[in-house]
Amino acid sequence: MADILTASNITRDFVIGDGSVVHALRGVNIQVAEGKLTILKGRSGSGKTTLINMLGALDRPTSGEVIFDGQDITKLSDIKRDELRRYQMAFVFQSVALMSSMTAYENVDFGLRLAGFPLEKRQERVTKCLEEVGLAKRMHHRPGELSGGEQQRVAIARALAHEPKIIFADEPTAELDSGTSHHIVELFKTLVLDEHMTIVMTTHDVSLLEIADRVYTLEDGEIVD
Ligand SMILES: Nc1ncnc2c1ncn2[C@@H]1O[C@H](COP(=O)(O)OP(=O)(O)OP(=O)(O)O)[C@@H](O)[C@H]1O
Ligand SMILES: [Mg+2]
Repeated sequence: MADILTASNITRDFVIGDGSVVHALRGVNIQVAEGKLTILKGRSGSGKTTLINMLGALDRPTSGEVIFDGQDITKLSDIKRDELRRYQMAFVFQSVALMSSMTAYENVDFGLRLAGFPLEKRQERVTKCLEEVGLAKRMHHRPGELSGGEQQRVAIARALAHEPKIIFADEPTAELDSGTSHHIVELFKTLVLDEHMTIVMTTHDVSLLEIADRVYTLEDGEIVD
């Protein structure tokens, strides 16, 4: 299977308040195969979120290249990077960021509306994606009327809705209890094994590690193996 995303020699320095520099990434190389699960793991502060933000065009590396679908996305304009994220990528974060005044349906629909999808297509995708994550019966609930795991499933449905080429998930189960997180883990497994989604995820979940195509361990901003 081809690699859809490669990062070569990525560094990321942060200059903090007192002028000192944090070397959050120190020359990282990774490859993400299309249709597979790639996992980033490592201790707190090892650079996982920093790296996933580079891969998903949420931040730019200090040096190095990120090639997505044949182009170096670090060199694109902010507008092009926004388009890339909106149409081709999707994100699931640790804390679920849903609009509290919108129902599950409206939350999933929102991104499609922004991206200019026609109404009919939106209706079809929103319904299908909410069904896929097991929330057909909860479509018209607001986040406050859903459990934590259900809210994360809405966030996953939202990520799937525009049929992205790649999904980035940064510890999507970290804020859930173990029972709830089990359901989310099973959902990700289905997306990988049955739907062949391309997913890059930071996680410590052992059962996800087992089905991963590649697992990269970060230590102090470097890949170790
Ligand atoms: N905006 C920032 N400014 C300064 N330093 C930062 C910034 N973001 C991250 N860092 C530092 O970079 C290092 C890597 O942080 P990162 O958030 O990538 O770690 P992580 O592996 O995701 O940790 P966790 O498991 O706790 O989420 C840490 O030392 C952190 O303090
Ligand atoms: Mg993190």
